[in-house]
Amino acid sequence: MKTQLEKLKDDAITAVKDLVSSPKLEELRIEYLGRKGKLASILKELPTLAVETRKEVGQFANEVKSAVELAFMEAEKAAQAIENESRIKSEWLDITAPGAEPEIGHLHLVTQAMEEVLHIFTRLGFSRSRHPEVEWGHYAFEALNVPKGHPARDEWETFFIAKDPENPEVAMYEDDNMAEMVLTPHTSNAQVREMEQSELPIRMININRTYRRQSDITHVPMFHQFEGLVIDKGITIADLKGTLDFFAQNFFGADRKTRLRPHHFRFTEPSFEIDITCDQCKGEGKIDGLKCRTCKEGWLELGGAGMVHPNVLQAGGVDPEEYSGFAFGWGVERTLMMKSGINVGDIRVLYKNDLRFLKQF
Ligand code: PHE
Repeated sequence: MKTQLEKLKDDAITAVKDLVSSPKLEELRIEYLGRKGKLASILKELPTLAVETRKEVGQFANEVKSAVELAFMEAEKAAQAIENESRIKSEWLDITAPGAEPEIGHLHLVTQAMEEVLHIFTRLGFSRSRHPEVEWGHYAFEALNVPKGHPARDEWETFFIAKDPENPEVAMYEDDNMAEMVLTPHTSNAQVREMEQSELPIRMININRTYRRQSDITHVPMFHQFEGLVIDKGITIADLKGTLDFFAQNFFGADRKTRLRPHHFRFTEPSFEIDITCDQCKGEGKIDGLKCRTCKEGWLELGGAGMVHPNVLQAGGVDPEEYSGFAFGWGVERTLMMKSGINVGDIRVLYKNDLRFLKQF
């Protein structure tokens, strides 16, 4: 029996030496040391031995068991080391290598301009409000003192929302006063809405999409405007001029000036076109004795403004005897393109989604 045990020890130790992988080692361990393994089956005979020999053989069997266990433990350690090493080799990571930088986009040029415009007016105490871009004719025109059929409407090249073609004779709108729906052609629709919704005094800046049937190098059918509206007691043209100068100096540069040029809008009285000194010729109209090619006369047209017409105040439930106000409404794209350094020949490029263009800003 001792020889059997001796042999088992030698066999196990040689077998273990040949193995390098942990799962196979485990199999082998069970084969030798498991409950039904080789050692156990030899020791089954133990009770048949005489008492003294049993003791001696028993002791020897324990020694064999420890030796074999030790061999397994060492083999396991060696196998682990080999596995670790090959993992380190295959999963090698150079922590000093430069990373792959993810491409980070940025806001669209026009969105950037809108944020800047908003920021400037916020500093004067204006707050942004939002009003519908799909709008009743009432707010886009009638309430602004532009009655139905008035020729002044032609300027606004309006898109109308069609009635239900299946049932053309069914009135689409309940209230005859709001008989038509349009894509708002200007942000001035916000004026009467704001008066209806807000407490006086009002300092509103409304930046929104606007729509007109037009497309050429200076026009796109969908564009943006920002509309300012201030209503309080004792508001005068001086307040309008001061606000416009503040905007022009902060948006375009400290040396830019504005001027008010008489004009006509149905919803303001008096009305103005606002011009700003040209960046190229600094308001001179000439560069080295030659006519400035950008502006021709020293000034560039920014957009409309005026003192809110009494009829419009009334339409918004405000008493024109007590309150007065000014309003202005300019195109975001146009204003943006007049900013120095941005030289875009064709306004439509803003909406072509050409990354080669957009990435430059
Ligand atoms: N809504 C006018 C336009 O789109 C501009 C404007 C706004 C004029 C406010 C006067 C006052 O042309």
